[in-house]
Amino acid sequence: MTRHFLTGAELSRDELLALIDRAIELKRDPLGSSALAGKSIGLIFQKPSTRTRLSFEAGVFELGGHPVILRPDEMQLSRGEPVRDTAYVLSCHVAAFGIRTHADELVEQLAEHATVPVFNMLTADHHPCQALADLMTLKETFGRLDGLVLTYVGDGNNVARSLAIVGSLAGVEVRVAAPRGYQLEPTAGAQLFEDPAAAVAGANAIYTDVWVSMGDEETAEERRAALASYRVDDALLDLAAPDAIALHDLPAHPGDEITAEVLYGARQRIWDQAENRRHAQKALLELLLR
Ligand code: CP
Ligand code: NVA
Repeated sequence: MTRHFLTGAELSRDELLALIDRAIELKRDPLGSSALAGKSIGLIFQKPSTRTRLSFEAGVFELGGHPVILRPDEMQLSRGEPVRDTAYVLSCHVAAFGIRTHADELVEQLAEHATVPVFNMLTADHHPCQALADLMTLKETFGRLDGLVLTYVGDGNNVARSLAIVGSLAGVEVRVAAPRGYQLEPTAGAQLFEDPAAAVAGANAIYTDVWVSMGDEETAEERRAALASYRVDDALLDLAAPDAIALHDLPAHPGDEITAEVLYGARQRIWDQAENRRHAQKALLELLLR
């Protein structure tokens, strides 16, 4: 059966925990696997990316494979070629492919018709590859995942949803503090809060993301107003567990969702998170192509 990775819920708990441990191993030995020798991996970007593109392109190379970057203006998909046909042709040439796009339906349709694994590199509703790197960063920092508390503060968006889905699968208690109208749906698996101070009490990690995601530009001003009191600063971190860390998937907007003091301060593990994207995604590719 072809394995896909669209939301993270496709993994069993054991697979997820083994993937995180494998990612930590690969970080110690980046050229220790040639799982992609002789294989090409398609990477379709219909939205901008710095980290996801860098980490997948470099990671595929380290695994002995060849990354094929595809931009929308270079694909016939943008001129009306059917999604089904695109999935068939990609499946003829690459061993797996990922896509960053707007609607989740496009990724689901590609996966329905592809005969190779399809992975989600960010959609409007999900960012599961980011959540893998986030769990890896937690495991590196605390030596465990089960029973940790991670509080996400801000917009209940794709990043928050993937943390809720993938984090709870790994035994992490995920809390989301968001204003009314910006909260996650209760079924995502997180505990929902309106008050950030209440949500961070006892937390091991405080996580935030941009207030204006790609595709939300038209409502930027109302989002900034609604989320103004959901900034992660040192005072909020002081309310969490004594050894709590600050996380952010990046890109950051210092002064909006996070202060510069936290972003570049002693309690952040944000730059480790950015590095861990590559190691976690290499472990994912190994699993999908096993
Ligand atoms: N965190 C993340 O996905 O970053 P990019 O948008 O730069 O890929
Ligand atoms: N929520 C953000 C994440 C960027 C990596 C967005 O979708 O733009």
